Amino acid sequence: MNKKGFIFDLDGVIVDTAKYHYLAWKELANSLGIDFSEKENEQLKGVSRVRSLEKILSWGNKTLPQDEFTRLMASKNEEYLSYINKMDESELLPDVKKTLIFLKMANQGIALGSASKNARYIIEKVNVKDMFDAVVDGTDVSKAKPDPEVFLIAAKLISRAPEDCIVFEDSVAGVQAANRANMISIGIGSSEVLSEADYIFNDFTEISEEFINTLINN
Ligand code: BG6
Ligand code: MG
Repeated sequence: MNKKGFIFDLDGVIVDTAKYHYLAWKELANSLGIDFSEKENEQLKGVSRVRSLEKILSWGNKTLPQDEFTRLMASKNEEYLSYINKMDESELLPDVKKTLIFLKMANQGIALGSASKNARYIIEKVNVKDMFDAVVDGTDVSKAKPDPEVFLIAAKLISRAPEDCIVFEDSVAGVQAANRANMISIGIGSSEVLSEADYIFNDFTEISEEFINTLINN
């Protein structure tokens, strides 16, 4: 059987932490007198913590001194972690675990490719850490998605060529990063938002074992 590399984004793909990022950023933005919608929030998905705050400030035409900027990032993360601390395996998105087990049984390479500096903590909380042959997160990269760095490092760690890798992503920036890395991109979410992906599904319940076998054997 062919050995491919399957690289999973974390937030919004394995767990629905995208909603916690949204809540935490929204609270912080509102405290600065800035508001933003779910539509604008799509631009924050997959994007680093620094870049997210820069974007929110730009929506409100605000600039901040560096120490205040750093303080607000820490405060957002504290709020975010208050949600994360309560997480357990029940928050895994539907059929994610089933897909991971299927890929493991099929002897494929499995990696995590996330922009989050909290990624290692979260995969432990929801009890899927052991499923991954390699983990690349926000502490391992210098360039944020849509730069392909995170996925290229992941491919290297599981010893696969980029063109033998398949990426699951819920963000526009992440799909672009996968495409730039020359990997197959699978968008998880709405086809309107993720139109640049090679394939799009609403969630893993729509991804059949037959489809995965096609990816493995092509
Ligand atoms: C990405 C999320 O996975 O990680 C972004 O989609 C988030 O919304 C980014 O900003 C950085 O996460 P963290 O946990 O390091 O603040
Ligand atoms: Mg994501």
